[in-house]
Amino acid sequence: MVIRPRRSVLYMPGANERALEKAKSLLADSLILDLEDSVAPEAKVMARENVCAAVKAGGYGRRELIIRPNAIETPWGMEDLRAAVSVAPDAIVVPKVANPGDVTTVAKILGAIGASPRTKLWAMMETPSSILNVREIAALGADPENRLACLVMGTNDLLKESRARALHDRVAVVPWLALAIVAARAYGLDILDGVYNDFRDAKGFAVECEHGRTLGMDGKTLIHPSQVGPCNEIFSPSEEEVSWARKIIAAFDAPENAHKGVITVEGRMVERLHLVQGKRTVAIAEAIEAMSKTQEEWF
Ligand code: COA
Ligand code: MG
Repeated sequence: MVIRPRRSVLYMPGANERALEKAKSLLADSLILDLEDSVAPEAKVMARENVCAAVKAGGYGRRELIIRPNAIETPWGMEDLRAAVSVAPDAIVVPKVANPGDVTTVAKILGAIGASPRTKLWAMMETPSSILNVREIAALGADPENRLACLVMGTNDLLKESRARALHDRVAVVPWLALAIVAARAYGLDILDGVYNDFRDAKGFAVECEHGRTLGMDGKTLIHPSQVGPCNEIFSPSEEEVSWARKIIAAFDAPENAHKGVITVEGRMVERLHLVQGKRTVAIAEAIEAMSKTQEEWF
């Protein structure tokens, strides 16, 4: 089981060279270098050149590099895809996905222009149709040809499109998130929560990270460097979670429990499903530990 922690996934406008440079000193697990909505039309071509030059030059250590091109229907989309493919990022984000065809079209183009097999696709879930079609979109994850690895919730666009209000309890957003999470899990995909716009509000941000983690998100998309540290912390298994997981693993390892489906650990019922959960918790904690041990390689 190979686990890639994606706790903190930072967007940065491709036109912002300072941000592209700054990212080399930030402990984000993944970086989304954006050519789409954070870049003004007149800066699109310059942003594409910046981003591809940055990915090609490297210096991002173990951080996962993802490029978000403009949609293929736009004047920049095809050129963005070609340029992205030429630098073989870890993933390309398909923006404004409405149905499975939007993802398979990009997957086919990638195949046709000889994209590296290492380049996966992440689907932006940000249109009302993407929520209606989430099962069929997530199901693409079952066939490696489609390259789909991750769903990314675009909560700002979803709020806009649905005319819902952005309140702190996220009452309008939760059903979309929850539906997308079960779809992602059903087909073995990762899923990332939407951004928190008010980046000076550390308290509200922490509450929203906890909320996303409670729902089952693997991590959160971010917009500002100050959000990276707290996000990593909240999306990492806590010491208590890891030590409880280790107790469950040890209990099932005991010879007297080898053939039992259910046992008692510290007065609580524990089933083999908890063993599976516990093993995942430990694997994530170990992957995070391994990443932080090689932190010097990050800079
Ligand atoms: N990634 C990397 N570095 C970033 C960054 C980001 N997303 N946002 C800010 N920085 C850098 C700035 O360049 C600045 O670097 P410097 O110290 O070398 O000058 C430093 O962090 C401090 O930035 P700050 O002054 O606090 O913010 P700002 O006013 O420059 O920018 C935003 C605020 C919101 C415009 C900016 O954070 C941003 O563009 N975020 C990403 C938006 C985005 O990509 N949206 C699309 C997806 S929703
Ligand atoms: Mg968007």
